[in-house]
Amino acid sequence: MLKFVKSVAAASVIAGAVSMIGWQVHAETNRVKFPENLDHLVHYTTVRRGNVTEHIMTTPEAMDAVKSGRPIPAGTHFVLVDHRDGELYRYFVMEKGEGFGADYDERRRTADWQFQWFWPDKSVNMQENTARCQSCHRSQADSDFLYTAYRIPRFNGTPVQ
Ligand code: HEC
Repeated sequence: MLKFVKSVAAASVIAGAVSMIGWQVHAETNRVKFPENLDHLVHYTTVRRGNVTEHIMTTPEAMDAVKSGRPIPAGTHFVLVDHRDGELYRYFVMEKGEGFGADYDERRRTADWQFQWFWPDKSVNMQENTARCQSCHRSQADSDFLYTAYRIPRFNGTPVQ
């Protein structure tokens, strides 16, 4: 009997561990990597809202693609650098990669884009479920899941406001 109780306790510990792992897979790191060279990205627009300032940037190659109506190439990052009261708060990153869409089912998929939230030390915010990012950005499917790409053609060296 005691043995049985022990094994039940062991089983519930294991079940707990499994559900922890399950949760991590859910709120997880995915295939998005923090861009190696932020300086390579062009800051094409700024969005201000109250105490929030968002600097939005991407690669020159992606900007050329948008301007000429070509698909944005695999390997592209879009980064939203989010400041609160002038202090760096977080980085929102979208990355497009070959086959990235295959990681998600149809209802969640945002073509080959994946999303991630990075803290200023570039660690991933493990509390965030990036399905939320995708569900909002899916409304922009007609502009490759991007909200501000339409501003890119107007960029002439000064971030579009
Ligand atoms: C409730 C809707 C919503 C959610 C949720 C959301 N976004 Fe966005 N995102 C926007 C809007 C709107 C913009 C345009 C900038 C603005 O108005 O703040 C944007 C802009 C961006 C951009 C700049 C490229 C672009 O589309 O213009 C990135 C990168 C980005 N979001 C990443 C993320 C990530 C990563 C998450 C989840 C951690 C996320 N977003 C969640 C609405 C959303």
